Amino acid sequence: MNTELDHLIPMDFKNAVQVPDTHTWVDFACINSSSSDEYVPLIDLEDPQVVEKIKMACENWGVFQVTNHGVPMELIAEIEHQARRFFALPREQKLLTLRSPDSPTGYGIVPISRVFNSLMWMEGFTMSGSPVEHVRRVWPQDYSPFCTAFDDYQEPMMGLAIKITSLIFKSLGLSNEDVEWFNPKSTEAFLHLNSYPKCPDPTHALGMVAHTDSSLITLLYQSNTDRGLQVIGPNHNWVDVEPISDAIVVNLSDLLQIISNGRFKSVTHRAIVSEAHHRISIPFFFGPKIDVNISSPLKLIKGGDFPMYRPISWKEYREIKGVHFDKALEAVRFNSVVVEKDNAQTTGDEAPLGGKVKALEV
Ligand code: OGA
Ligand code: NI
Repeated sequence: MNTELDHLIPMDFKNAVQVPDTHTWVDFACINSSSSDEYVPLIDLEDPQVVEKIKMACENWGVFQVTNHGVPMELIAEIEHQARRFFALPREQKLLTLRSPDSPTGYGIVPISRVFNSLMWMEGFTMSGSPVEHVRRVWPQDYSPFCTAFDDYQEPMMGLAIKITSLIFKSLGLSNEDVEWFNPKSTEAFLHLNSYPKCPDPTHALGMVAHTDSSLITLLYQSNTDRGLQVIGPNHNWVDVEPISDAIVVNLSDLLQIISNGRFKSVTHRAIVSEAHHRISIPFFFGPKIDVNISSPLKLIKGGDFPMYRPISWKEYREIKGVHFDKALEAVRFNSVVVEKDNAQTTGDEAPLGGKVKALEV
């Protein structure tokens, strides 16, 4: 098992001529595993049948791509440019912005990494609030283009996330009163920059391990380079989410599975890496205010059905995810046995966590 610090500090990918043992993943069939004849739904947000199409995509896939989303392409191009500029910095400089183990902001490997023995072929910059303080350390005079790109991008993304969430609620037949905990004027989001450098042997490395996100929905822009993001499709195999230059990917996440009482599934996804391209992705994790309790509306429960999950806030759920990872949804089910069972196992295996509960930002 690697130390806690190993799980925060990315290796020097620039000089890598092979995949070191620390980053080798042997037990997953990677590059050839995706199916070529299935496509993640592509939905035009101006389509008059948008609610119906979203409903089908949510029921069958838990993921779709949207066009006509209203986020100006110049803002997307600019944030990708700033992300590439940051990740192209020498390693020592990037390390000046290193995230501390207890902070959600800064440079490093995504937190889910702690749960696994092998490290991922990625580096990230995670953000909650303004990046100014961190970015100043690498560009003391010239920090504002990065920060401006960041702020300019977040505003329309927030609007888009609220719009898509409302359409999803509509597709579930929910009115505003049914989801009164969801206040469009008071929401939360975390923006990440993910960098997947070129990899000398993509069949033995993994960009991001299979997981679901803990948010309500995640909007993800991926650079138009190569395949990278994959999801588990309706036939239970890996399917590529093809980069489409003017589209944004929408992932349904764990809180939505809770709200829909299991009707819509949080999609399992991962990222693979490429020998030819340095890929950038920019996920925007969106949800209600972090400490507001959410629960499935009665409307979705009646008719002989029963509530699957207990009421919970995003904050508490993130803490549970930090401990239980892929069993977190199971752990918040009514009458769950996961909590007791896993607590009994944590002592040895979770030593790198220092026995502390820490939230994952996925
Ligand atoms: C994530 C994620 C996938 C990608 O950051 O949670 O799933 O393609 N990223 O970068
Ligand atoms: Ni994710």
